[in-house]
Amino acid sequence: MELLRSRAELEAWRRSRAGGPLHFVPTMGALHPGHQSLVHAAGSDPASSVLVSVFVNPLQFGPQEDFERYPRCLDADLTCAAQAGAQALFAPSVAELYPEGEQELTRLMPAESLQQVLCGRRRPGHFNGVATVVARLLGLVRPDALFLGEKDWQQLVILRRLVEDLGLPVQVVGCPTLREPDGLAMSSRNRYLSSEGRQRATALPLHLRQAAEACLQRREINLGPLCQDLASQLEQAGLVVDYVEAVCPQSLQPRRQLTGLTLLAAAVHCGPSRLIDHTFLMSRAPIVAIDGPAGAGKSTVTRAFAERLALIYLDTGAMYRAVTWLVQHSGVDAREAAQVAPLLENLDLQLSTAAGGSQRVSVNGHDVTEAIRSPEVTAQVSVVAAHGCVREALTRQQQAMGQRGGLVAEGRDIGTAVFPDAELKIFLTATVSERARRRALDLAQRGFEVPEMADLEAQIAERDHLDSTREVAPLTQAEDAIEVITDGLSIEAVIEQLVQLFRQRVPHDAWPGG
Ligand code: PAF
Repeated sequence: MELLRSRAELEAWRRSRAGGPLHFVPTMGALHPGHQSLVHAAGSDPASSVLVSVFVNPLQFGPQEDFERYPRCLDADLTCAAQAGAQALFAPSVAELYPEGEQELTRLMPAESLQQVLCGRRRPGHFNGVATVVARLLGLVRPDALFLGEKDWQQLVILRRLVEDLGLPVQVVGCPTLREPDGLAMSSRNRYLSSEGRQRATALPLHLRQAAEACLQRREINLGPLCQDLASQLEQAGLVVDYVEAVCPQSLQPRRQLTGLTLLAAAVHCGPSRLIDHTFLMSRAPIVAIDGPAGAGKSTVTRAFAERLALIYLDTGAMYRAVTWLVQHSGVDAREAAQVAPLLENLDLQLSTAAGGSQRVSVNGHDVTEAIRSPEVTAQVSVVAAHGCVREALTRQQQAMGQRGGLVAEGRDIGTAVFPDAELKIFLTATVSERARRRALDLAQRGFEVPEMADLEAQIAERDHLDSTREVAPLTQAEDAIEVITDGLSIEAVIEQLVQLFRQRVPHDAWPGG
């Protein structure tokens, strides 16, 4: 473990370290297990090297704040960072980090809308200071990934935006909040608390958690009164409330109604400490909608993504295939809605997870898991899925399955028709030639005859056309969906990208995942 005090030492260490990604954990020191968990996350890739910085940044403290007395304990920090597995600790002085002085420094100003709420409103200039120092550190360290705690949620949102807006080539990874056994979020500022204050402080996580529990499975929650009630509970517990606010976790804009995953955040004074904490309010567990054209790799990616995040995998494509199989085995004309409709009346379509995690599909008691992947079913599924009666029946069933949330659904109108309020909408796509190549590989692996590439491409283009021009539920990208083009990406890379997108919207506190 190396201690680097200057920019020159940092640069020399950068050059001398072994290859592999460089992962960076910026801190203000007084390290505790919460910081150590960031270092663990940063070091979870065995090829990575982890650098921690310790710098009490004067730019982010207001004139009446605790810059002077902020705990400084470099020796203990070195031990703590080394124990957690960091390779180096960068601890520059103020003069080393800002050699031209603070007056002359170029400063960054995060978007006003992200600063007008929560801590930004109460601590003017704070996030300008945070953004400025983090940009400066990123410039010096030039890491591949930046690890930040979800505990400081507003800071995380602002720094993600900074990286995006400046086009910085670094991945931002948010890590779960660590708590003491009695629920208090770990923070360097907990050190200021007396034992009596420490006791009082537990009211903050307790009442936040109770507020979140009260929202589950409820509709129509007015967030104004909920915030007021919480503030009075905190005051009654002997804390001085700075704010209690409910906002959209991503845009940080105030919310009046519980219309989706909502950040309920509070800041209180407890003796000499200003403590912040938050929870996430939701009336159901999160839903992810993955749409996109046929053959873009949705099933493989969605299945693995669901497993990674411990979400239920709802394969709606398999449901349409199962109905297509039923149509073919009932001897009715797949093109005639009037012939198909009666089959839906007593339809018993089940998706279940077998031992080992694979999904089984049964229709009216027949296990059709393999049969629905045949070229015959593939050839007719678009025709069957275009009937209004089929869409209505299956959309109803899917929405019933999604009432409690906690699932990822894959299909072609999930984000638009089935779950328009999904927390994350992905439009997973790939070029026609890439999809034809993958389809040929898949057919060969499963022992089916492989048509000419040109024919496969034509089939795929034809299916895209059918799916996107049909009258009922055409394939369209939801306005708020994020397009992910998978050409040239490994499955693992796509899954990793989706996990990152999920974590930007759904923090570990709201859905810990697998
Ligand atoms: O979260 C912190 O400790 C600080 O705000 C950071 C990100 C290290 C910038 O000084």
